[in-house]
Amino acid sequence: MSNKIKKIGVLTSGGDAPGMNAAIRSVVRTCAYHNIECVGVYRGYEGLMEGDFKEMNARSVKDIINKGGTILKSARSKEFRTKEGRKLAYNHLINKGIDALVLIGGDGTFTGGMIFNEEFNFPVIGIPGTIDNDIYGTSHTLGFDTALNTVVEAVDKIRDTASSHNRLFFIEVMGRDVGHIALNVGVGSGAEEILIPEEDLGLDRLVESLRRSRQSGKSSSIVIVAEGDKIGKSVFELKDYVDENMENYDVRVSVLGHMQRGGAPSCFDRVLASRMGVKAVESLMEGKTNYMVGLLNNEIELTPLEKAIKGKSKINLELLRVSEIMAT
Ligand code: F6P
Repeated sequence: MSNKIKKIGVLTSGGDAPGMNAAIRSVVRTCAYHNIECVGVYRGYEGLMEGDFKEMNARSVKDIINKGGTILKSARSKEFRTKEGRKLAYNHLINKGIDALVLIGGDGTFTGGMIFNEEFNFPVIGIPGTIDNDIYGTSHTLGFDTALNTVVEAVDKIRDTASSHNRLFFIEVMGRDVGHIALNVGVGSGAEEILIPEEDLGLDRLVESLRRSRQSGKSSSIVIVAEGDKIGKSVFELKDYVDENMENYDVRVSVLGHMQRGGAPSCFDRVLASRMGVKAVESLMEGKTNYMVGLLNNEIELTPLEKAIKGKSKINLELLRVSEIMAT
């Protein structure tokens, strides 16, 4: 392993996700293990452009493996999208003697990193951190597994009310433009229907399916709706449609919101974060740049950043079929 890299910076950018802290810890400790200095950059690219840096050692990251959010804080930066902004960031990195960056975030973070690498030939490696799981080149992004467990727990609680009052609940879950969270949570929580952007069920089919389930003897139902689903303008519109078109249904809506992004990371996310951090630092040490680390067939592999950004993360449509059968 060559050792040209002497100082690595690490930042978190975009929406926070459980497991980001475990990844920061892994990057910092892998650096310490290899006698490389490590610098934490606060507030993602915003802090990079302001030189908001802090030296970190192995002890700086004690007691954070179990914490949600990100101790380095996060931001979505508009200014980093400009050449002037990126030049500011580059100057701060050079002044601080930082040779490479580990970027923990989603596709917006990686797009910024890739452009930065192209402009300044500055080594970067990405670690995918977002609850949405919408990144190509990894079966799991950091935070996805935790979010699934959080949402399933919430849906279980709502189910108590649904079944006590014979109600139909539309529960909206996060995921931006993709349905990974909805699909997995729908199967895991035993939902009647799952509405995702990748598959247009249509309002008529939805209504028909709800009628059928009522006829089969079910007195309450849960429908999981991905926030990016286009079947109705909003989850509230779905409720209105059912109210208008189906008699004797007591319908409620629950939008879970940002509680899905918080909380202690699951064991899966902690292990994944630890593995990804090691691979990110050691890849930089080997002279690799402009890659993302990801989990593929349970191995930590590298995917070129450009592919990770442009590729489409595949939805597991088999789960829709499983859900349909389970809703019998
Ligand atoms: O990307 C993570 C995510 O939580 C999405 O699921 C959601 O659409 C979005 O971020 C919400 O963003 P914000 O926190 O800026 O409202």
